[in-house]
Amino acid sequence: MNLKNKTNIILIGFMGSGKSAVSKYLAKISQKKCVDTDAMIVESSGKTIKELFDISEDYFRSWERNICSSLKNKHDLIIATGGGIILNKQNRLLLNETGFVVYLKASVDCIYTRTKNSTHRPLLNVPNKKEVISTNLDQRDSLYNTTSDFTIDVDNLTISQIVDKIKLAYENSTT
Ligand code: S3P
Repeated sequence: MNLKNKTNIILIGFMGSGKSAVSKYLAKISQKKCVDTDAMIVESSGKTIKELFDISEDYFRSWERNICSSLKNKHDLIIATGGGIILNKQNRLLLNETGFVVYLKASVDCIYTRTKNSTHRPLLNVPNKKEVISTNLDQRDSLYNTTSDFTIDVDNLTISQIVDKIKLAYENSTT
C-alpha cells in the first residue's frame, strides 16, 4: 500500500516507551479513535495479559496475531501495540500494510526507569529486570526499525513533543 493511502497511525516500541499515553493524546488532538492491541486481546479473550501468559507466551502471541489480522481493514485509528507484536513476521507485514508505523525508540535506562515499579508486564516480573530489558531490546530493535516508517528517540521528549513530531511526519507522508 502506498503511504498516501494510510489512514491509521500505528505506534510500536518496547514496553514503557510511551505508546499508550502518546496514542491517547494523538487521538484526542487528531479526533481519531484510539485502540490498544493489549486491551483488544483482554476483551476478546476474557483473560488478563497475565492469565494468558500463565497459560503460555505462545498462547498470548496467538491472540496477538488474531488481533493484528483483525485491524487490517480498519481506518482512521490510532493503534497502540504490545511491545512484542513485531516478533512475528506476519504481524510485521500486516502492520506495515495497515498504517503509518511509528517506532517510539527508548534507551534501556529510560525503559528501566519507567517500568521498574510496574508489575503488570509478565516479561518484566523478574529480578534481573535491566538485563532482560537490554537483551530483548537488542533482539527487537532491528525489527522495530524494519517495520516502521518513522522513528522518534523519545528519551528526552514530552508526550506533546512526540505527538507534534508524529503529526508532522504523518502529514509529510500523505502530501
Ligand atoms: C509485551 C508487551 C506488553 C504486553 C505483553 C508482552 C512484550 O505490552 O503485550 O506483556 O512482549 O513486549 P506493552 O508494550 O504495552 O507494555
